[in-house]
Amino acid sequence: MSKQYSIGLTVGVFDMLHPGHLNLFENCKKMCDKLVVGICTDEYSIQYKNKKPLYNDEERLRIVSALRSVDSAMIVSIEEVEDKTLILDRCKFDVLFSGSDWQGSERFAHTQAQFDELGIDIVFFPYTDGISTTNLRDRPRI
Ligand code: CTP
Repeated sequence: MSKQYSIGLTVGVFDMLHPGHLNLFENCKKMCDKLVVGICTDEYSIQYKNKKPLYNDEERLRIVSALRSVDSAMIVSIEEVEDKTLILDRCKFDVLFSGSDWQGSERFAHTQAQFDELGIDIVFFPYTDGISTTNLRDRPRI
């Protein structure tokens, strides 16, 4: 049976891959034939999250690309993260997926207005509670 969307895109840092990321990818893949993941650069993470990733962007690209639910992954520039229409030059996605923590954010309101004109949908999935790269970093190890 054909899925609702043809090419889906989701974008994030995806450092220290965890079940919250896997839930997102698996939910995305249920709705599109091909799932493309945009991996944010180390520079983006430092600038926007004030965190240097444990795995660098090339390593995160390799790890995410190896997942069964992901069809392809690519590193996206800071400009592409800020203005996701720029990614259309490299990938003709018809839906953008995100975790619900971004719902209602200024960035997504702007993206929504741009995408409405292009006929691209935005779909949010519930954020997986209780796990994030940040709290993994802080978990006691012994
Ligand atoms: N995500 C999710 N559930 C989680 C963690 C992340 O659905 N528990 C989703 C986010 O909503 C986003 C994508 O995964 O769409 C990438 O999130 P990212 O910022 O890389 O992951 P976090 O674990 O939230 O990282 P951090 O703690 O550094 O913010």
